[in-house]
Amino acid sequence: MQLPFAESYKIKMVETIKKSTREDRKQWIKDAHYNLFNLKSEQVFIDLLTDSGTGAMSDKQWSELMLGDESYAGASSYYKMKKSIKDILGFDYFLPTHQGRAAENVLFSVLVKEGMIVPGNSHFDTTKGHIEFRKATAIDCTIDEAFDTSVMHDFKGNVDLNKLEKILLNNPIEKIPMIIMTITNNSAGGQPVSMQNLREVYAMSRKYGVRVVFDSARFAENAYFIKKREEGYADKSIKEIVKEMFSYTDAMTMSSKKDAIVNMGGFIGFKNEDLFKQASVFGIMFEGYITYGGMSGRDMNALAQGLNEGTEFDTLDTRVQQVAFLGQRLKDFGVPLQEPFGGHAIFVDAKRFLPQVPKEEFLAQTLAIELYIEAGVRCVEIGAILADRDPITRENRFPELELLRLAIPRRTYTNNHMEYVAVALGNVYSRRNEIKHGVKIVKESPIMRHFTVELERL
Ligand code: F0G
Repeated sequence: MQLPFAESYKIKMVETIKKSTREDRKQWIKDAHYNLFNLKSEQVFIDLLTDSGTGAMSDKQWSELMLGDESYAGASSYYKMKKSIKDILGFDYFLPTHQGRAAENVLFSVLVKEGMIVPGNSHFDTTKGHIEFRKATAIDCTIDEAFDTSVMHDFKGNVDLNKLEKILLNNPIEKIPMIIMTITNNSAGGQPVSMQNLREVYAMSRKYGVRVVFDSARFAENAYFIKKREEGYADKSIKEIVKEMFSYTDAMTMSSKKDAIVNMGGFIGFKNEDLFKQASVFGIMFEGYITYGGMSGRDMNALAQGLNEGTEFDTLDTRVQQVAFLGQRLKDFGVPLQEPFGGHAIFVDAKRFLPQVPKEEFLAQTLAIELYIEAGVRCVEIGAILADRDPITRENRFPELELLRLAIPRRTYTNNHMEYVAVALGNVYSRRNEIKHGVKIVKESPIMRHFTVELERL
């Protein structure tokens, strides 16, 4: 008999999580203005809000904390992180930052000016925020297959090369400071980008003389999918695949809270010394001196170790299989999902789940509220609230995909927890026809409104 799937770790420390009643949760979510970011963590039983900074560090990472060097300049922890970045990703220059959006802030302070255009496969919300904040435009050149959740495609994270080339052809090249490839593509459902696509984008970038930057938060999961799905990679190690991926970029931003499995941290990797030097000026201003940039020595140590573990096949196999386990159980209940399943999360297609609710009433947010009330599971809307208003017309933007994201923290929950989540959402699905209305916005901020928005149920 074939042996079943089992985790590649055992548990050394546990943390209590609290159950609650439906009545408690109805009151708490009302008090939170129907915004799940406003809930206290103890009001949540299983927290699938994000896989960012919520993973469990290993015994080796915790040991590294004790070895942290907290010197202001030239700390050994900085050199440990530098070696890890060079050995695993191949970058000669790097700047630590306190998290991914800080890396974007520092790099874009050099590169992005008013009136510029930044194309990519799909920009994450903080990336788009940092571009639009500088009065530039972020354009998603996502492949059309990504917008149909029922279409199977191995690499739904790919950029559409025709859409990209049109932008490069139709605009003055000095107005395009970079092409951003987000790996994996979070907004399209944690979907990977193929090696071939990365190679082709790089070739196009050389032809037009534009820089490529990888938004690399989940680069290791991307490498795992290349190994599993792309011809010619089955026998390569994750680390070999990662090296090739990063040979097709000029720079990278990293939120280390994902695939480097730390609770806080980030960095920018550069191949070009001149760009590194220009960015260092902003790094020092916003983050801290170049050998710590917003991180403590102990955290740089844990990050260096985490990069190594995060690019091990067994770590990734355990993770991606757990995500797929949740996906399969939800599918068994008939819940409509983005397929194939993503690397870090399962994305529920709210338009197919609640076709009777008008899009102006924020379907995915409505589902997030229902799931919380059902079982104390917290997840996040990746839909019209997140999409913000158009910066010029101020009209609501309604993206093609209205998704509910169940993000799985790394090495944190068991498959029993996944089963609990699947049954909870299955229950909501069974009573979906009773959900006739969604929510309306009562208060919102002008940019990145989803974090603080206040809502009322209709
Ligand atoms: N890029 C991508 C693709 C991301 O998913 C994130 C964060 C960032 C950049 C920003 O990094 O949070 O360290 O500042 N994503 C988290 C999420 C918040 O829940 O998907 P950060």
